[in-house]
Amino acid sequence: MTKRLIGFSVFILLVAHTSFGQRKTITQKVDSVLRLMTLEEKVGQLNQYSGRDLTGPASTKKTNMLDEISKGLVGSVLNVKGAKETRDVQNEAMQSRLKIPLLFSLDVIHGYKTVFPVPLAEAASWDMEAIEASAHIAAKEAAASGIHWTFAPMVDIARDPRWGRVMEGAGEDPYLGSLIARARVKGFQGTKLGRTDAVMACAKHFAAYGGAIAGRDYNAVDLSDQQLWETYLPPFKAAVDAGAATFMNSFNTLNGIPATGNAYLQRDILKGKWKYTGFIVSDWGSIGEMIPHGYAKDDADAAQKAIIAGSDMDMESRAYKSSLAKLVKETKVSIALVDDAVKRILYKKFELGLFDDPYKFSDVAREQQALNDPQHKLIARGVAQKSIVLLKNEASILPLQKTLRSIAVIGPLAASKRDLEGGWIVKSDTTQVVSLLEGIKSKVSNQTVVNYIRGCDANSSSTEGFADAINAANNSDVVVLAIGETWDMSGEAKSRTDLTIPGEQVALFTALKATGKPVVVVIMAGRPLIFPIVSDSAAAILYAWFAGTEGGTAIANVLFGDYNPSGKLPITFPRSVGQIPIYYSSYNTGRPVTNEKNVVYKSAYIDAPNTPRYSFGFGLSYTTFLYSEIKASANKMAANDKVIISFTLTNTGKYAGEEVVQLYLHDLVASVVRPVKELKGFKKILLQPGESIKVSFEINKEILSFYNSRLQWAAEPGDFDIMIGAASNDIRLKTKIELVGTKK
Ligand code: NOJ
Repeated sequence: MTKRLIGFSVFILLVAHTSFGQRKTITQKVDSVLRLMTLEEKVGQLNQYSGRDLTGPASTKKTNMLDEISKGLVGSVLNVKGAKETRDVQNEAMQSRLKIPLLFSLDVIHGYKTVFPVPLAEAASWDMEAIEASAHIAAKEAAASGIHWTFAPMVDIARDPRWGRVMEGAGEDPYLGSLIARARVKGFQGTKLGRTDAVMACAKHFAAYGGAIAGRDYNAVDLSDQQLWETYLPPFKAAVDAGAATFMNSFNTLNGIPATGNAYLQRDILKGKWKYTGFIVSDWGSIGEMIPHGYAKDDADAAQKAIIAGSDMDMESRAYKSSLAKLVKETKVSIALVDDAVKRILYKKFELGLFDDPYKFSDVAREQQALNDPQHKLIARGVAQKSIVLLKNEASILPLQKTLRSIAVIGPLAASKRDLEGGWIVKSDTTQVVSLLEGIKSKVSNQTVVNYIRGCDANSSSTEGFADAINAANNSDVVVLAIGETWDMSGEAKSRTDLTIPGEQVALFTALKATGKPVVVVIMAGRPLIFPIVSDSAAAILYAWFAGTEGGTAIANVLFGDYNPSGKLPITFPRSVGQIPIYYSSYNTGRPVTNEKNVVYKSAYIDAPNTPRYSFGFGLSYTTFLYSEIKASANKMAANDKVIISFTLTNTGKYAGEEVVQLYLHDLVASVVRPVKELKGFKKILLQPGESIKVSFEINKEILSFYNSRLQWAAEPGDFDIMIGAASNDIRLKTKIELVGTKK
């Protein structure tokens, strides 16, 4: 470092940290730095580049990017990871005039080195502690590897399994989705930003990305305000309330306006009504993509529209870089807008402590330790177990005996490691993944013969391997068949119109079934699939999703009863693609919604039932639960009252087990018609065989409220059905309450 640079950095430090010996607030520090910045440096802070080339071999791209970083023209880099790598790149930023540290960001979606189940799978656990723990471990590992910021959680509500990104979210329900959004933000961010076991979270994609028409990724979204507020926005609001440091906007248009250029979303709702103080990053290239959308004519127009609409940081469009300074000079964009965006970003850099120590997260020793902590795998295994959903268990074939004589383990996913990890893996070591085959082998007794045959590929038309598979089945007492999607069939840009299990996998099932041996099917996938033949004739079905590094052990634990399954579906499984979109919180119609034959003018299909194959909230256990004795502390309440609904839950089976008891309500008559069922509460409860517990839920005005036609959040007097059940289609107890008062 030259003498001049050293002198200047001391000056910056002084400006930033003290004023005549007094400690400054972060806002004061931010203002002090902002005052020193040129317009170009300000625009630089709003620039985010993918740094993939930075860690690669010498190239012009690399040299140019390093040059820009060392001139203070880049605010953040994504896709550089590793304590050493991030340190090296940060070093370049420290050569810049103002030495403003870079933010290193990455898609740490479900684990960093230790891969946890994909987010939709975790949602099936309905276990907020587990989900928070998973996010926290991902953060701990990433933060030790120099990462300051993850692009997660994705809190988009998704009701269309054709959309491949259902895999990254928490499913279809705004209530469950909001609690999970909160748990994930808290997990990633830990107790305080700036601790080296935490990273900044990013609630994405703001907003309504999950509403893509026909489930085709990036497609337009056309939603009523009612649906936007009632279904799509709640998890984002929950993320704000949980302190999410950043937001990401989305690729889609919403009612004709790209989310990235949408001032209603970003300025009016997020930064206005919700008083959000963090910053918003665009999605990759989404500022520039407003041109093909037909919303901006060129980069300058796109940059102007994006900054005015509230997008603070430009991920990879380079539209701010090319146009923003000019737009300010031409007074087409007010400097106040640029300053506001810069301040939001600098604030986070201060909060993270990067002005004190820009290398704080890039610690090789901590990285070594965090990435090799055996505890992380144990926790990942626990979360994976909780995520598995038992869909069928005919004649209680499960759990299997560990001492069985022989077992055939068949299927293209049985020995696969990579598929268990799902999409979005960033630093995993796939060789460390426990496959299902390995999990089963280490579970059964020494005498048990394990006959493994792949049988077929996941997605090819060859049936060559069937004969060996049938042979293995014939030589075994039971078959465990692992089929489903490969890891790369769901996720971003992985929309499908056909949701059946691909290739010849179902034919393989049918061939194995024909042997007469019981076939237990383990389905791996990142979305709800459609598998009627398997549903109808498998002996048992475990929906294991993509269960992560410890997936094989977790599934084997469930198969052999070391863990009693407790997962419940966070998303509806349709019978056919023709039913989509299908979700539990649907509306009544004026005509009966029924499949009864003797009703003619009904709201139904003539070729399929209305009901889904598996409903939201459904999942079996090895034990059984009895719900009894529902009581309401009152059957009328005023707006400022509360009613306590209580009931008794008893484990009536042979195994200890967890039940997710679910509270739904229906507002019978309202100024805007209400869904026939809305989830408003749930509890996951562990009971020993024979054990009973009194469970209660509080009904208050908040729970009874909804957005009326003027988008006011209000509860309207009248009757409400209160339903308690084991799934949205398995209501065990019912009562009614009346909210008294006068209608407005
Ligand atoms: C595009 C995806 O939509 C977004 O979720 C992700 O964070 C960015 N790419 C960065 O990889």
